[in-house]
Amino acid sequence: MAPERVLDAADREKSDRRDDARFYARPRFVQHVDKAFRERLADLYAEYLPAGGTVLDLMSSHVSHLPEDVAFERVLGHGMNSEELRANPRLDDSFTQDLNREATLPLEDDTFDAVTIAVSIQYLQYPEAVVAEIARVLRPGGVLIVSFSSRCFPTKAIRAWREATMGERAELVAEYARGTGGFDSPEVVSEKPGIDPFYAVVAGTRSTA
Ligand SMILES: C[S@@+](CC[C@H](N)C(=O)[O-])C[C@H]1O[C@@H](n2cnc3c(N)ncnc32)[C@H](O)[C@@H]1O
Repeated sequence: MAPERVLDAADREKSDRRDDARFYARPRFVQHVDKAFRERLADLYAEYLPAGGTVLDLMSSHVSHLPEDVAFERVLGHGMNSEELRANPRLDDSFTQDLNREATLPLEDDTFDAVTIAVSIQYLQYPEAVVAEIARVLRPGGVLIVSFSSRCFPTKAIRAWREATMGERAELVAEYARGTGGFDSPEVVSEKPGIDPFYAVVAGTRSTA
């Protein structure tokens, strides 16, 4: 089933229209959110990601925020900079791909128990297509966790994101998941553990999908 379109052409615009590959060519060994956010995210992952399962960390970097005391069978990382991914101690393997150029993931159907996207979904110009791909590679009963805060690279975030309130952003992400038809009702988590507001959308795939 083709994913439902949530955004129109104007919503997908970025003020920096240059190739994303250029922007991410240089590695950034930085943290994009504060410690309280990162700890809350690791706790959320501990709650929802199955220990011993397979995880795809999409739009990753040198960090995945996975709980330190939980082991997974395999963690596959994806991002835009191979140096950052190679430095990520939680990844067993990784690949780079510009999802704004090619949304199809080079992965088999029903492969992962969980997919994570941390503080990055605002950069996707075709999030509906990417989330449909996530639904395809997740096993029935798998989980998608998309987290975000108020910080971002504004020139690289899509217009729909830049112009939305935090609550509207959460609704937008939930819409991406609903639009695929593959996820049960997404749940929004909204908290303020530190300075950076913590938002996450947790969506489970239908066990009969
Ligand atoms: C703010 S960083 C977040 C990285 C990491 N998830 C974290 O928590 O630190 C944004 C990430 O989005 C990803 N990204 C941005 N534009 C992308 C694109 N066009 N295609 C694929 N990934 C992209 C890159 O992996 C980049 O590292």
